[in-house]
Amino acid sequence: MQNSQDTFKKIISHCKEYGYIFQSSEIYDGLSAVYDYGPYGSELKNNIKNYWWSAMVKLNENIVGIDSAIFMHPTIWKASGHVDAFNDPLIDNKDSKKRYRADTLIEDFIANKIDKKITKEVAKARKRFGDDFDEAQFMSTNPRVLANLEKKAAIMERFTKAMEENDMAGLKAVIEENEIADPETGSKNWTDVRQFNLMFATKMGALAEGADTIYLRPETAQGIFVNFLNVQKTTRQKIPFGIAQIGKAFRNEIVARQFIFRMREFEQMEMQFFVRPGTEMEFYNYWKETRMKWHRALFPESKLRFHDHDNLAHYANAALDIEFEFPFGFKELEGIHSRTDFDLASHQEYSGKKLQYFDPELQENYVPYVVETSIGVDRMFLATISNALTEEEVPDAKGGTAKRVVLKIHPALCPVKVAILPLVKKDEALTSKARSIFEQLKFSHNCQYDEKDAIGRRYRRQDAIGTPYCVTVDTQTIEDNTVTLRERDSMEQVRIPISGLEQAIAEKLDLRNLLG
Ligand code: GAP
Repeated sequence: MQNSQDTFKKIISHCKEYGYIFQSSEIYDGLSAVYDYGPYGSELKNNIKNYWWSAMVKLNENIVGIDSAIFMHPTIWKASGHVDAFNDPLIDNKDSKKRYRADTLIEDFIANKIDKKITKEVAKARKRFGDDFDEAQFMSTNPRVLANLEKKAAIMERFTKAMEENDMAGLKAVIEENEIADPETGSKNWTDVRQFNLMFATKMGALAEGADTIYLRPETAQGIFVNFLNVQKTTRQKIPFGIAQIGKAFRNEIVARQFIFRMREFEQMEMQFFVRPGTEMEFYNYWKETRMKWHRALFPESKLRFHDHDNLAHYANAALDIEFEFPFGFKELEGIHSRTDFDLASHQEYSGKKLQYFDPELQENYVPYVVETSIGVDRMFLATISNALTEEEVPDAKGGTAKRVVLKIHPALCPVKVAILPLVKKDEALTSKARSIFEQLKFSHNCQYDEKDAIGRRYRRQDAIGTPYCVTVDTQTIEDNTVTLRERDSMEQVRIPISGLEQAIAEKLDLRNLLG
């Protein structure tokens, strides 16, 4: 059995080998936590964005899209709280010289040391008692479980308080008192904890001196907030309604060691849903379930879960993550946040411009409350590839077995939809027929024509990039205008007339299969 680190390494090397993702500036030894998307990667990324945009904007009459600029007025980041509060607590290990987020060290300690012990005790007891096992009773009476739960509660209480009060010494005390060690080296020789602002700053204008400092946006959401009235008035939307946006965001992440999971330049798909104050929890629950449904159309239920936030961001009165089981464990894939009227009220105060909505039913003006859904395109990409990369044993031509590497990405999201393959390259009748099918299909789908190498190798190549359908042109095609259509996952081949090909493929690739 493979360990999760091996699986993760395989994903990274597969992405590089098959043109999905390259290290940015690779020929200059790379730029840390910045990545480029290759030919197949950029197609998959576009398809993910299209799946999100269709689900959010196209299918909801009360959600509209925008595309706001990355650069914004610097006061926006003061009003949003990012200048003062968009910090991560940073700690260095003096021996290993490795840098960590203090909050992540503590959270990982709780998950890996305390939660795991409790899970083990429960599993042991379940085995011992079999069908008679009562988990709730066991959790509330077993002395070892109770001791661990008590320890966890005590750490959480101090940790949450230290985070809320910006108490860096308090965070360090939690790390030291619980003897939390550098996960890579085991050293407990730590520096003090310091706050580190995650925004990238630059200067606007030709002259650096005296020019205003502006920031590369750390979230796309603020572009939506400051356009709230422009959009509401021009589209005549009534509350509740949403504004969606896909775009780049930038964060100077302290720890960026997990490929495209945590990048310094990344892309977000965010939607702000503006609601009447007091109704926000209703919409928070609605979007929680709706977003989870979107993920479940792609991923098995066992790989997804909700995680309620213990530490709320400066703008939220409720928040949760939708977590995905990456090769390195369950981690945040998407955030759902009830942001109250924090952002609009603050922009109203800093700009001096009213950001209110006149509610015709209530006959009154108010600053709307906001429920936000926010997901990283790159993280969704990593989840998609992690879920798809499969190694399996398949029968070979000689009656034995062979290893097959296949990317089982949902057909609607695959970079290449159809490969058209003449059985042999030397037969001009086959190649010209295959070419004509390619010319016909390329207007509807992203297709590839491939005549190089034996047919088995070409199938493997298409499996590795995740192409869901291969159309093979053989001598029978010349006689009766039929081709074989091979399905990637089952490897089954069916014979169908060329005239029915386009429709058969279109049905299988329809985004409705996911959105239905
Ligand atoms: N507007 C709210 C917001 O930005 P967030 O939880 O900080 O909330 C939302 O980020 C999503 O953006 C995350 O769930 C994740 O998918 C993605 N994300 C955040 N930081 C990222 C990073 N450094 N690299 C890649 N994706 C990131």
